[in-house]
Amino acid sequence: MPPATSPVGTRTLGRDGLTVSAQGLGCMGMSQMYGAADRTESIATVHRALELGVTLLDTSDVYGSGHNEELVGEAIAGRRDGVQLATKFSLSRTPDGGVRIDGRPENVRACAEASLRRLRVEVIDLYYQHRVDPRVPIEDTVGAMAELVAEGKVRHLGLSEASAASIRRAVAVHPIAALQSEWSLWTRDLEVHGAGRDTVLGVAREHGIGIVPFSPLGRGFLTGAIRSPEDFGEDDWRRGHPRFTGEAFTANLRLVDAVRALAQERGVTAGQLALAWVLAQGEDVVPIPGTKRRAYLEENVAAAAVELSAEDLARLDAIAPPGAAAGGRYVDSSYAYGDSPER
Ligand SMILES: NC(=O)c1ccc[n+]([C@@H]2O[C@H](COP(=O)([O-])OP(=O)(O)OC[C@H]3O[C@@H](n4cnc5c(N)ncnc54)[C@H](OP(=O)(O)O)[C@@H]3O)[C@@H](O)[C@H]2O)c1
Repeated sequence: MPPATSPVGTRTLGRDGLTVSAQGLGCMGMSQMYGAADRTESIATVHRALELGVTLLDTSDVYGSGHNEELVGEAIAGRRDGVQLATKFSLSRTPDGGVRIDGRPENVRACAEASLRRLRVEVIDLYYQHRVDPRVPIEDTVGAMAELVAEGKVRHLGLSEASAASIRRAVAVHPIAALQSEWSLWTRDLEVHGAGRDTVLGVAREHGIGIVPFSPLGRGFLTGAIRSPEDFGEDDWRRGHPRFTGEAFTANLRLVDAVRALAQERGVTAGQLALAWVLAQGEDVVPIPGTKRRAYLEENVAAAAVELSAEDLARLDAIAPPGAAAGGRYVDSSYAYGDSPER
């Protein structure tokens, strides 16, 4: 296994030169989704990430309804230099536990001000619209985001899970540095979603937009650590997820076992192989594996040193071609490319 201290290096997102660590740290799980988190260990994980050169930190105002931004703000206090701070707006929790999307210009501004306060910083390096609001023209939303750039509150703009059509409309208003979408060995929709050559990935690349794959470890499944639905705690969101329940779970276990077998041959862990595959998709790709533990972080960082041959990549492609996973990405399918006319 490569040493845990291997340098991750840097990559550049977008045409305006946003240089970030080639692998980021997804902080969401420190506040929601994948079981209980220990605050001290979460903050220690952020500190260890910075020590190892993982300087792109990913959060959102919706993660723990502000809890995650506050935690990240606390963790980077006194360490702001050298951190690339990415956060998101447009989603919020409803009292019944659902999620509301709001891309109105007045909400863009209010959310940015609140994020800056919680993060305790003067400027956000990368500000994403978390989900495109189908009721608000994206030109209006991105126009309001562009005003934040003009005012020095935000450095670069991003979109998350936007369709090819929305990306085209957004870049006509302001350069977009990054597209954050789910991309991993078991979620390759980005490569195929869209009409003809207008895949989400193709359109993003046509405009020089960097790709930030979220859930690159398949929400933990591709590490091989999850063997049964019983492995999830009571409060783990994956308990009700279509890919982690019933027959889909069993089918997906076969996929991950094939990944594990290849990883074993290569002398790396399954999670490292999954991350190496994402990293090998191009110099414009910056995955943000999520963890709230230093030990997992160190294992994930070491994936930067895993070099895959053309044969390795072909074998992974055969194990996990687009569409290979059983079960949808979300319980509510409108959550994936929800603004897409071709959905
Ligand atoms: N834009 C969006 O809509 C969107 C959606 C989802 C996520 N995200 C962002 O993307 C980030 C990453 O995605 P994600 O957290 O959903 O999924 P992920 O990175 O694919 O997987 C995270 C899960 O894998 C586990 N894990 C991490 N490293 C491991 C290792 N080496 N061995 C075993 N298990 C390991 C984590 O465990 P522990 O939790 O126990 O550490 C966690 O349960 C998030 O943190 C968030 O910032 C964005």
